[in-house]
Amino acid sequence: QETDKGPYPYYMLKEIDEQPNVMRKLASLYTEESGKPNVDAELINAMKQADRLYIVGAGTSYHAGLVGKKLFEKLAHVPTEVHIASEFAYENPLLSKKPFFIFLSQSGETADSREVLVNVNAHNYESLTITNVENSTLFREATYTMLLHAGPEISVASTKAYTAQIGVEAILAKALGEAKEQTIAEEFDIRQQLGLVATGMQAIIDEKDTIDDLAKKYFVPANRAFYIGRGIDQTVSLESALKLKEISYVQAEGFASGELKHGTIALIEEGTPVIGIITQKRTANLTRSNLQETESRGAATFTIVRKGLAEKDDTLVIPDVNELITPLLSVVPAQLIAYFTSLNKGLDVDRPRNLAKSVTVE
Ligand code: G6P
Repeated sequence: QETDKGPYPYYMLKEIDEQPNVMRKLASLYTEESGKPNVDAELINAMKQADRLYIVGAGTSYHAGLVGKKLFEKLAHVPTEVHIASEFAYENPLLSKKPFFIFLSQSGETADSREVLVNVNAHNYESLTITNVENSTLFREATYTMLLHAGPEISVASTKAYTAQIGVEAILAKALGEAKEQTIAEEFDIRQQLGLVATGMQAIIDEKDTIDDLAKKYFVPANRAFYIGRGIDQTVSLESALKLKEISYVQAEGFASGELKHGTIALIEEGTPVIGIITQKRTANLTRSNLQETESRGAATFTIVRKGLAEKDDTLVIPDVNELITPLLSVVPAQLIAYFTSLNKGLDVDRPRNLAKSVTVE
């Protein structure tokens, strides 16, 4: 049964392990053998008419939206805003002339996101819900839908839904970019890339003992920790910190590496873990020097680095994929760090205190 834990001590580990298969599934369902995206033509047409995309989500889904913004802007050249659902609902942000809304929600039931969708529908704007749950509220009420096909996600801390959301966004951005004749989209072989991602995820998962040791040694004793990065790596730093907070109760923050020196670096003490996420060639050296700045103030520093940018002393080297979709790999070590920190602290990994899998109140 899909909802059985099988040999796993916790659903979270099972769901982390399932990610390579989810990537393969998305590739086979949403792309053709030729590499062409296989996405509803009407949806692409509706998105093509839009002058701006508005992505709405909460928690981990919001973080997947931040990656989506980079994908839609780079591959499809369409300005994209990402909004926290509970903020959007009551702030009435200014909209462009022809907005198109994308709702990201694993459960399809988050009340904050639904509140926005009700408003969007009242104004007759078109929308797409990307969700893991067929026939959920957000699925039923949006104009268009795409399913994540990730299988049931039971652990409160979201893992495979985040990577599936990014996978679907990448396919969609490629399809939209092609429809808009963007060369960068035409040259982006998403089917091949998702295959590389699947293999890459598996390679990281196979190294989990190393991550277990790291968690035991540095994260279990820590009161606080930082993930830093630039650009797309910064968005992953937010999700990585959230994972750690949710299930291990280590106070963690994700930060733009260049912004640390403007205040937050004051928090660095002897032994504070700081992890640099480095997957983008243009900013790799900058993040490395920001990491160095924390180290010289006593931080215990680590790196999650894409192979092509790796240096001798890097901590966790992840396989190379196109720079647009590195979050699909760089988040996996962070998921495992959170998992093993929680596990080694003897906490209930799947059912952290004060949290619910799906929040149906505003
Ligand atoms: C809850 C969960 C989070 C999740 C968020 C949004 O807070 O604990 O893991 O990211 O809701 O949920 P959704 O189902 O809309 O993606």
